[in-house]
Amino acid sequence: MSDRVPKVIIHGGAGPALEDKGGLAAVREDLHAVVAAVYQRGEAGDRALDCAIYGCQQLEDRPRFNAGYGSVLQADGQARLSAGLMNGVSQRFSGVINVARVEHPIHLAAALQANPDRVLSELGAAELARELGLPPFDPVTPQRLQEWLQARQNHFSQAMAGVVATDPQARRGTIGVVVLDRQGHLAVGTSTGGKGLERLGRVSDAAMPAGTYANALAAVSCTGIGEDIIDECLAARLVVRVSDGLDLGAALAKSFSEATLNQRDFGAIAITQQGEVGWGKTSDVLLAAYHTGSGLGDTLDLGPGTATGVVSP
Ligand code: GLY
Repeated sequence: MSDRVPKVIIHGGAGPALEDKGGLAAVREDLHAVVAAVYQRGEAGDRALDCAIYGCQQLEDRPRFNAGYGSVLQADGQARLSAGLMNGVSQRFSGVINVARVEHPIHLAAALQANPDRVLSELGAAELARELGLPPFDPVTPQRLQEWLQARQNHFSQAMAGVVATDPQARRGTIGVVVLDRQGHLAVGTSTGGKGLERLGRVSDAAMPAGTYANALAAVSCTGIGEDIIDECLAARLVVRVSDGLDLGAALAKSFSEATLNQRDFGAIAITQQGEVGWGKTSDVLLAAYHTGSGLGDTLDLGPGTATGVVSP
């Protein structure tokens, strides 16, 4: 039985620069608190999959992030949540798409890990929530409702809602957690309220292998414009590149240089079986924080434009 130093990286969205620096400090505090709590679980010997579920749940609970409580509203004024979960050891993906009135969509994705039908949309996901005895939960915060009312008053001229609740100018959010546990096993979870103001039935990348993917060698969670992430098949692309022999730095550099040429707007976080912890972004900001076992770090002070980075073990 191997006894590795656990690694954790999480994100809380990507998008245009946050003008509200007070917002940035608060985001940093939230991300650091969550990444430290997930690391503690990993250090205590919890499985990567359980750590990823726990981290997603913690981020879904924090209303500044666009997932779970505090999710943005779709065009019709409803919050519909999506989450994807992948266990790198079993290479098993599960997820829910556009489910309303649940508190933790990641728990539904977790329940589906052992189910023969592993990705459920709206009605099926709602039925699963009922089956699991989860009480109905309204994830709409007063701030998100105000944003939607304002958008309606402006005849929905704004394309999407905000990346974090502190800055209505900034857009695009999702949360994600990637973990390497003491056994050397990887897992990843991603959860989102979507783009906000999207048309009914639009499907996020979070519950697709484009946005959430893992095998025994690498695990990746993405954030940003779902359509861009899907077009690049970003999470799976990165995992396959690492599996085919590229180190994480080279896989990120190649994938984000292609993404820049294609004018994509997104970010990704990743961990490899070797213990490399990395990130990449084309967006101005990537709200990510990591714990390598030697300490905490984050990507909040990166300047605008494409950047990638890796912390090697
Ligand atoms: N990446 C979140 C979304 O576009 O739905």
